[in-house]
Amino acid sequence: MNRHVLRPVFVALGLLAIILIARTIMVPSDFRISEKGFMYGYHRQGNEAEWENFKVKYRSKKYCEDCHGDEVSGNLSSPHKIIECENCHGPAIDHPDNPEKLPIDRNRDLCLRCHAKLPYPTSMRSEIKGIDPKAHHPEKACFSCHNPHHPNLEDRK
Ligand code: HEC
Ligand code: HEC
Ligand code: HEC
Ligand code: HEC
Repeated sequence: MNRHVLRPVFVALGLLAIILIARTIMVPSDFRISEKGFMYGYHRQGNEAEWENFKVKYRSKKYCEDCHGDEVSGNLSSPHKIIECENCHGPAIDHPDNPEKLPIDRNRDLCLRCHAKLPYPTSMRSEIKGIDPKAHHPEKACFSCHNPHHPNLEDRK
């Protein structure tokens, strides 16, 4: 065969060898389909143990009730009943031991994450009542008018 044909063939074989060697080095040895049904497809079997050890960080609002009854009953009787305390205050898995207190974010951004009006009329996000942050009482903190634990104004204590 002509050398100008053989040369690219050698280059291709060389590349293939490099790819195979790289694959052996980089793909973990327990990466495969680990059950009969193919349900989970390719994954690292070790990853199953990692998920089993994954620490759940959230407790949900039932847990808060004994110590913060006012906030919980306010929340449950308001449109915010469908969101969790920890959505605004962060994970509470070891609270009140560590941390003793959960953070309080008084920034407008906390609320705008869900309430800034977005131009996506068909998304579920648009079902949350939206305001225009530049027009809706700018410069003032949201909580100075809306109690985050029962945000309708008629409910404000
Ligand atoms: C066993 C009682 C207990 C439980 C349960 C509990 N907390 Fe607390 N929490 C405390 C104590 C004690 C403090 C510190 C004293 C204080 O500020 O009231 C605190 C402080 C806080 C603070 C800061 C208050 C401030 O003024 O700085 C927030 C926010 C908070 N908790 C939210 C929660 C949420 C949300 C839950 C449920 C996921 C929860 N806590 C569950 C006892 C509890
Ligand atoms: C929408 C966000 C949001 C949610 C949801 C929320 N909080 Fe708060 N929380 C705040 C903000 C903001 C403040 C500060 C309010 C202020 O300074 O007037 C606060 C203050 C607090 C405080 C300090 C005392 C007080 O009332 O000012 C506690 C305790 C607390 N929250 C517990 C809870 C618990 C328990 C829940 C769930 C039932 C909850 N929060 C749900 C945003 C939220
Ligand atoms: C995680 C998303 C989320 C966050 C954060 C959040 N909200 Fe809401 N809020 C909702 C949902 C969902 C509703 C119920 C649906 C609705 O009425 O728009 C609601 C309802 C409201 C309503 C009642 C609207 C009405 O007239 O029915 C007000 C006012 C409000 N929120 C203010 C706030 C304020 C102020 C903050 C910040 C302290 C805040 N929200 C943070 C999701 C959120
Ligand atoms: C100066 C007081 C004040 C401040 C600050 C304020 N609001 Fe309001 N908000 C109102 C009043 C009054 C209404 C009812 C009349 C209206 O729709 O404007 C309202 C209505 C709402 C509604 C319901 C809108 C609807 O379509 O029914 C939402 C959601 C809301 N505010 C969220 C927020 C958020 C988020 C912030 C902070 C970024 C905020 N507000 C800051 C006074 C305030």
